[in-house]
Amino acid sequence: MSLPRVYVTRRIQDAGLSLLPGRVAFEVWEKSAPVDRDVLLEKASKAEGLLCTLSDRIDEELFSRCPGLKVVSNYAVGFDNIDVEAATRRGILVTNTPDVLTNATADMAFTLMLASARRVVEANEFLRSGDWVTWHPDLLLGQDVSESVLGIVGMGKIGQAVARRAAGFSMKILFFNRSPRPEMERELAARQVSLDELLRESDFVSLHCPLSAETKGLIGERELRMMKKSSILINTSRGAVVDREALYRACSEQWIWGAGIDVFEKEPVPLDEPLLKLKNVTTTPHLGSATIKAREGMARKAAENLLAALEGRKPADLVNPQAWKK
Ligand code: DGY
Repeated sequence: MSLPRVYVTRRIQDAGLSLLPGRVAFEVWEKSAPVDRDVLLEKASKAEGLLCTLSDRIDEELFSRCPGLKVVSNYAVGFDNIDVEAATRRGILVTNTPDVLTNATADMAFTLMLASARRVVEANEFLRSGDWVTWHPDLLLGQDVSESVLGIVGMGKIGQAVARRAAGFSMKILFFNRSPRPEMERELAARQVSLDELLRESDFVSLHCPLSAETKGLIGERELRMMKKSSILINTSRGAVVDREALYRACSEQWIWGAGIDVFEKEPVPLDEPLLKLKNVTTTPHLGSATIKAREGMARKAAENLLAALEGRKPADLVNPQAWKK
């Protein structure tokens, strides 16, 4: 019996790839740039399984050319790069990689919070460019993280992990979540509030909601104008949750104190992006889950989900259970 054909759109860690030989016939896109669209469409058209990343657009056009496709295994927890509705209509399973990156991403949100509040990147550049002439009482003053108010938007697993870290900094925790989470209020000594209240009261606002039609542009001019002048916005979710132009104005005109941004609507972010010129904006290139342990976990999960689907078992991390017919 021939093995199911699989296309892997990026060389992921061996922790995942090493599970594939002998169980599927697979090919990997070896370049570090994302797979060309025409190559993706061609390879996927012959495949039963696709193991892809968030840089690949998996949409109706692709599905319409892939009569044999049974599963799309995303190497990411977010799956806004996939048209899940279209996949479900065609009975194609979609999976993601939750849990294994929760700590890494929460750590990154905290890294950006501390780095932005204490101006770490700006200070590093200041020192290295020879501008440090003396210790001074007013030199590069920042904001306190300890005992401040943290507003978490989206109290999923990553939001909760951020809240647990915040407890160690004696922060007061507010959160906004679509559905009521009274158990989180108890467990994390946090208070669920409306988005407006969270924006008005928080010293740090950290975004942890998935990107969807509902959350696209969730933080725009109106929301940024509600935030305190001394507050800092942290985004490790998806760039499009924030209106980029409004954020630029908020940071350059100092409606807010600054921002720590790991994700952009267009990635890689073009170098002429005005936000990159601002000292009060700390940026990283979508590194939320970029630890060795998290990426190995993601690779393993992505491969296991793919194999489960192709071997007729229900994948552990099925995003569209409606498509599961067994
Ligand atoms: C995800 O998993 O969705 C992250 O953004 C990339 O690791």
